[in-house]
Amino acid sequence: MKRIPEPELMNDPKQVAIYAGPYLDSACWLFIQRFRKYFPGLVPTDAILDLGCGPAAIPLALAGHFPHCEIHGVEGAPRMLAYGKEAVQRKGLEKQVHLFHGILPSTFPLPRERYEVVISNSFLHHLADPMVLWNAILKYGQTYAAILIIDLLRPTSEEAAEFVVDTYIPDAPPLLRKDMLLSLRAAYTLDEVTAQLQKANLAENLTLTMASPFQFAAHGYLCKES
Ligand SMILES: C[S@@+](CC[C@H](N)C(=O)[O-])C[C@H]1O[C@@H](n2cnc3c(N)ncnc32)[C@H](O)[C@@H]1O
Repeated sequence: MKRIPEPELMNDPKQVAIYAGPYLDSACWLFIQRFRKYFPGLVPTDAILDLGCGPAAIPLALAGHFPHCEIHGVEGAPRMLAYGKEAVQRKGLEKQVHLFHGILPSTFPLPRERYEVVISNSFLHHLADPMVLWNAILKYGQTYAAILIIDLLRPTSEEAAEFVVDTYIPDAPPLLRKDMLLSLRAAYTLDEVTAQLQKANLAENLTLTMASPFQFAAHGYLCKES
């Protein structure tokens, strides 16, 4: 299936409201499970950076797992960011979880120059230029930073994409189902992600594997000169 890009930022009020609802809780759960699987025993104690953090479900979940670590999230869509900030307040985690407005690849102020963990979930497929994500990892990751990127893979056909939506979010409202279909069409293939990792000189650091039947994970430790 040919890639059909989708808009980078998610700022439409209806789209944001539905995305921030409970229908994607399983995606957040999967991310945390995979983090624990790929980095057994890792307990970050300084700060984690989440690129394209959306409504902050993953930063909030990580905050619970790593209470002695700050979680910083970057999000480009103001409405999505507002949902995330509200969620942080609701949980009373303002001292531990900090969300920032920023549109990659532009630069914006962050409390750390480099991070011990850099993560991202379902962000790559939004990017017209996928190197924006891999370059951000090189920019914000400290030497030996733990990296975990999970995203959708583009199915081979429209029918396969519809099958994924039916399997993944069977009870979700039509708008979210439509959004996921658009995301699957915009996603990169395993071959494309492999080429991106090679181009970024990350192929030797990050292992590319399947996180689920329709998502890849790129995980490992960043080895570079600081
Ligand atoms: C599909 S959502 C994923 C959100 C979150 N990571 C999650 O798993 O729930 C992708 C998010 O990336 C944001 N985004 C897209 N392009 C961006 C960019 N260039 N810079 C910053 N955020 C961006 C979108 O606004 C959206 O909120």
